[in-house]
Amino acid sequence: MSRLFHVVEAQQFNVELMANIFATAREMEQVVQHYGSNILSRRVMATLFYEPSTRTRLSFESAMCRLGGGVLTTENAREFSSAAKGETLEDTIRVVAGYADVIVMRHYESGTSKRAAAVSPVPVINAGDGSGQHPTQALLDMYTIQREIGRLDDIGIAMVGDLANGRTVRSLCYLLAKYRNPMIYFVAPQVVRMKDDIKEYLRRHHVSFVEAEDLYEVAPKVDVVYQTRIQKERFGDRITEYEQARGQYIINRALLDCMKKESVVMHPLPRVDEIDPDIDSDPRAAYFRQAHNGLYVRMALLRMLLGA
Ligand code: NCD
Repeated sequence: MSRLFHVVEAQQFNVELMANIFATAREMEQVVQHYGSNILSRRVMATLFYEPSTRTRLSFESAMCRLGGGVLTTENAREFSSAAKGETLEDTIRVVAGYADVIVMRHYESGTSKRAAAVSPVPVINAGDGSGQHPTQALLDMYTIQREIGRLDDIGIAMVGDLANGRTVRSLCYLLAKYRNPMIYFVAPQVVRMKDDIKEYLRRHHVSFVEAEDLYEVAPKVDVVYQTRIQKERFGDRITEYEQARGQYIINRALLDCMKKESVVMHPLPRVDEIDPDIDSDPRAAYFRQAHNGLYVRMALLRMLLGA
């Protein structure tokens, strides 16, 4: 099996490695039920977050705690770390690497985890870099698809919402491309359509995809509707564009009625108004289960990276 060190982009993963992570994640569900383990005792993880987060940071921290490790945390590194004094990212990483065995980093600029990995003697995990990638989210998304749909090959998926700025869908495309015969429908408002680099990658890897406008036409065909938030923070002063994009595609009861009985709705969360809370009680609403899966997948990753 290929060894993992830094986790910076989804392209690093292959099917074998993912099968291994998902099998370990499944074991981790048991470990959590039995109140955790001590396999990472005396190991320390630092979370360095320059952008807001709830699920990603807390699930990584919970994952480390559940495995008996320690956690150092900076939840608002942009303001409260030495970055505010003008320290370079590279210097911060060199220093934090002396205090921790693994660094989990989220940053507002795309490409920063690669820069961090280039100078870090300990593993760096990309927990989201601007509108670049979010590889651990994509891993937990694939794990969720496997758990909910029962397979990873031949998956039909509609990716909906902000496909231009959303980093989760970008990473998810790279992972889906590793499996047999995926069919991807991109359903996005005009101003936030999927970028060309991903479309070119999919073409190069012979992955079928189409860009569609009518979500009601796509919904009956897919196993997964993957909704995303319009990423307001990436619009700057383009308020009108944001307002145009927002509210265009909403998942509600009417849409659910068009979907297959054995399909699911996923969302990396947080949601704003793109999923009507009325559907939360439908068994096909998988987004909270998806968020919980983040814990198991991140436990599996930490165990693998820290060699326990
Ligand atoms: C996503 C992110 O930060 O990219 N959230 C997450 O990690 N679950 C999605 C989002 O913020 O819309």
